[in-house]
Amino acid sequence: MQVEQLPLIISTLTDLEHPYMQGAWAPMYGEVNATDLEVIEGTIPTDIDGIYVRNTEIPVHDPIGRYHPFDGDGMLHLISFRQGQAEYRNRFVRTRGFEAEQEAGRSLWGGLMAPPGASLRPGWGAHEGLKDSSSTDVVVHAGKVVSTFYQCGEAYLLDPNTLENQGLAGWAPIDGVSAHTKVDEATGEMLFFNYSKHAPYMHYGVVDRHGKLVHYVPVPVPGPRLPHDMAFTRNYAILNDLPLHWDLEALKGGFHATRMHDRPSRFGILPRRGNGRDIRWFEAAPTYVLHFLNAYEEGDEVVMDGYFQENPEPGPMRDAPRGFAHLMGFLDQHMTRPRLHRWRFNLKTGTTTEQRLDERTLEFGMYNQRYAGRPYRYAYSAVAKPGWFLFDGFVKHDLVSGQSWSLQLAEGRYASEAPFVPRIDAKDEDDGYLVSFIIDENTQTSECVLIDCRRFEEGPVVRIALPHKISSGTHSCWADRRFIRDGVLAPP
Ligand SMILES: [Fe+2]
Repeated sequence: MQVEQLPLIISTLTDLEHPYMQGAWAPMYGEVNATDLEVIEGTIPTDIDGIYVRNTEIPVHDPIGRYHPFDGDGMLHLISFRQGQAEYRNRFVRTRGFEAEQEAGRSLWGGLMAPPGASLRPGWGAHEGLKDSSSTDVVVHAGKVVSTFYQCGEAYLLDPNTLENQGLAGWAPIDGVSAHTKVDEATGEMLFFNYSKHAPYMHYGVVDRHGKLVHYVPVPVPGPRLPHDMAFTRNYAILNDLPLHWDLEALKGGFHATRMHDRPSRFGILPRRGNGRDIRWFEAAPTYVLHFLNAYEEGDEVVMDGYFQENPEPGPMRDAPRGFAHLMGFLDQHMTRPRLHRWRFNLKTGTTTEQRLDERTLEFGMYNQRYAGRPYRYAYSAVAKPGWFLFDGFVKHDLVSGQSWSLQLAEGRYASEAPFVPRIDAKDEDDGYLVSFIIDENTQTSECVLIDCRRFEEGPVVRIALPHKISSGTHSCWADRRFIRDGVLAPP
């Protein structure tokens, strides 16, 4: 393995007495380019060609107030596969906030759990007081890697070959862009939303395959909301107004406390180029949904899959380290209990029907992106380690037959969100791999694995050593080299 080490960034973090600054969440700062990666086991397949990119959250300076693991600065890890070879590199996203704090040598913004007014400079996005750390999500669109932040912010662009930072996307509107922009590989479009504390509280937009904003409309909702994700079909975008959001009374005092409100969930369906008047709202059982899977049209219905939280307000976690019980409760999926769930919205009758697809605690779903917005059969979910925002397994579902297959990682090994990688010239929807970065706490190392989705329970077909142990984080994506080059891929 050849490793080129870049000059170290300035990090001043001294206090690591936080459960999410240890173990698989321990921060790391080195930025490298690595080639000739060592294969630990198996063979790198020659039938995939593209990049896997994962965003992680790194605390760089001692926080102002209490640290939340989603406050950290965005660091992207990229592995590129081509002709049976793999290369790796990682970079911090050079956000305005990251650069300002590098210059200051300290934190300038308080995080999600900091007291009101803690930030020393004006913040960004829906919260208005946070640093836009661009650390939540990452997609590839219009030939660029695009990283985003869940509380809304800029869309930061990076080169898909080098991870060179290329600044801000010019199309991002004044209220910013939420994480979970949706890329439709069949049209090359990217659909996005944002949300804020001022009317109309939510917007929806479309960026075309050339990176041009071609549609941007208000989505009127009755007050400040906290949507995290959206869904789309070939013809429709699906937004949400869920009963978990900031408490308005607390918000008057500057406190950003969330609570469930006593009303149904609402899902808004509008034509992909429609405006606010075209939205049709459908009521459904109250819940919070962090992430959706796919959605598609079937007869008069729009079908949407996602993870229905049975307990969106989990309360404090027992046995948590002192002072961290609420934080750890919200981060423990075995407390929020997300369940694989299907909503059917009938466009003729206006009614919603709901169906539970699995009773296990699952989240962070992935599927073959070539079927995005279209009828699909296979879903892949991550399994969380009880008590922790860490993944230690995956489940594959055949949504037609109801069959499922599980893969549990060995003790002390944690996966990253694992997108589906179609084989070159794949004929079937599940003809490909899941790709994931593994953090191994036993050996203090990291690796990249590929799991053959048609031999799911057999475990990785290849394990590739990374040059350093990485930190945990949230979202990731796979992009075929053809898609990076052309900006669009013909659907199957
Ligand atoms: Fe997310």
